[in-house]
Amino acid sequence: MTLSPQWLDELRSRTTLSTLIGRTVKVQKAGREFKACCPFHNEKTPSFTINDEKGFYHCFGCGAHGDAIRWMTDQRGLGFMDAVKDLAAEAQMEVPAPDPRAAQRQEARATLHDVMTAAQDWFVTQFNGIEGTAAREYLKNRGISENIIREFGFGFAPDSRGRLKDALSVHGMDQLVEAGLLIKVDDKEPYDRFRGRLMIPIRDPRGRVIAFGGRILGDGEPKYLNSPDTPLFDKGRTLYNLDKASPASRQTGRILVVEGYMDAIALAQAGFEDVVAPLGTALTEHQIERIWKMVEAPILCLDGDSAGQKAAMRAALRALPILRPSHSLNFISLPAGQDPDDLIRSDGPQAFGNLIDKPQMLSDKIWQVEFEAEPLNTPEAKAGLKKRLSDHVRDIADQDIAQHYRQDFQLRYETAFFAKRENERSGKTFQRSKSKFNSNFVSFTPMADTKSVLIDGYDLRIAKGILGGLIRHPSQISKHFEELTVLRLADSQMQLLLSELVSVAMRKEMLDMQGLLTILEQTDCYNAAKGLLRADALNFTFNRKLPDPAPSDFIERAQNDLAEAIKVITARPGLEAALAEATRRVQDNLDEESYAEQQRLRQAKQEFHERLVELTQIDDIV
Ligand code: UTP
Ligand code: MN
Repeated sequence: MTLSPQWLDELRSRTTLSTLIGRTVKVQKAGREFKACCPFHNEKTPSFTINDEKGFYHCFGCGAHGDAIRWMTDQRGLGFMDAVKDLAAEAQMEVPAPDPRAAQRQEARATLHDVMTAAQDWFVTQFNGIEGTAAREYLKNRGISENIIREFGFGFAPDSRGRLKDALSVHGMDQLVEAGLLIKVDDKEPYDRFRGRLMIPIRDPRGRVIAFGGRILGDGEPKYLNSPDTPLFDKGRTLYNLDKASPASRQTGRILVVEGYMDAIALAQAGFEDVVAPLGTALTEHQIERIWKMVEAPILCLDGDSAGQKAAMRAALRALPILRPSHSLNFISLPAGQDPDDLIRSDGPQAFGNLIDKPQMLSDKIWQVEFEAEPLNTPEAKAGLKKRLSDHVRDIADQDIAQHYRQDFQLRYETAFFAKRENERSGKTFQRSKSKFNSNFVSFTPMADTKSVLIDGYDLRIAKGILGGLIRHPSQISKHFEELTVLRLADSQMQLLLSELVSVAMRKEMLDMQGLLTILEQTDCYNAAKGLLRADALNFTFNRKLPDPAPSDFIERAQNDLAEAIKVITARPGLEAALAEATRRVQDNLDEESYAEQQRLRQAKQEFHERLVELTQIDDIV
């Protein structure tokens, strides 16, 4: 049997040493490493150190030293082959069969590396040649610098079925097919896989090219064509840009996870070099484990639109079963429809920097997604939320973590639905949760549940406009306490902000926008608040930037409109419900009276609608 050095390397890299050792002795995190009391000699203070990234342990007391295999032989007392087999089973690797073909395959892998290197060189040559003009132009238009082009190894595949095949023929057809560079269908003549595409090399952790992503220039399908899985390339286990991100993360203590190649590259150009991307699929468990070897809580940067949020939830749910102490995921949501590359180009690197400064933690993300999944205005819906949350907790294998999640969700749930009575007794209306696990979730409890008004759908957008208005006109918050405290926004971020605004206004009398923002900066709502000031989706007089100096009639009109909008949005859900009820009555038994009532409500609804439309149409009064 031949176990090649490469195979053993792979085995070591798929094994997390601290986890392995942690099964036998108690290990503790110490900076980037782990410490434990040395199992090879007697000691009371830990001098045994484990380094996951390098994959070895070392005892500064007795000098014990080794890797995962050594641990299994020296500490567990296994023979070499048994140690390897145990580790391989856990790493889901097959121990090479004792036949000469295994050695040949190993040989083949080595040659495949040569093939990929040759292909990369060839693509770069084409890129820099006459045929590469369009590709170079394309990157220039996207604002990619010469330096980054070289550093990331952009290339170009000419639009031809045989150019690469001819150019690299010395490597042999079979090798080119095996490397994924040629496509071979049945007995037909193989042809070039990548044609007329901008080529992005995908590198392994050691920086060797193992696959390619080819982007079409301009529109067309598919936008990206990727190498198939090959002996060198396993899509679910590869992270784009890991070789550069890993050393960068040692400086920053951070890893950003983005969705696309171009995001990783644009971020690197903007100075965020600690970025990786999966390859067009959701993050796999293996990829999460790999990232955890670098940092404990990577930040997933996803689109704020519904597809992006679904992806966030998918990653969150994948992580639950494999969570272990101190390891987690963090999230940021980009403005809807934007990826990091878009954001940096439209708003600059600072805008992205602000977002990643205040990421959302995993427990908060799961709560938020489930809390917003559907209206929670019936007992069944509320119980449904509870069930979904406890199902998620059940997925967590680590029992300590599961216990904390259970408590965390329970507290949030109770604060959201049952906190009323307690508050009535204590006479308090607002309650900041005491758990440090949910500092992101401040619940505000309506005076009486029956009076609370759920705001979702389109009205939620208007509510955002109102929140923006309250930030610009903080003096108005206290004027509308009564209405504001019955609103329940079906967006936990926005609800949090609303609660905070009311709470600040209760504590402070005279407030201007700057003062308010300074206070909000200490809370978890600052980003949301700043976001609303930027938002231009809904232009009311009151959430527009005030002219400087602001004429008093402008301010007066804005504040009147704000009052009107608050009135409309508070009354509307009740009106809708009444109208639905009246309509049902009319359908049940059509009599004069119920018909008149239904018509009246319909008219009222129409007026509300027109009023809202009016409010959003600003004629220039300045
Ligand atoms: P995006 O379409 O978001 O990529 O797909 P992007 O990086 O923003 O692309 P640009 O900015 O338009 O150039 C995200 C990732 O999904 C995979 C790729 O890995 C891509 O980077 N993908 C996407 C594919 O594999 N095939 C496709 O056709 C599209
Ligand atoms: Mn993009």
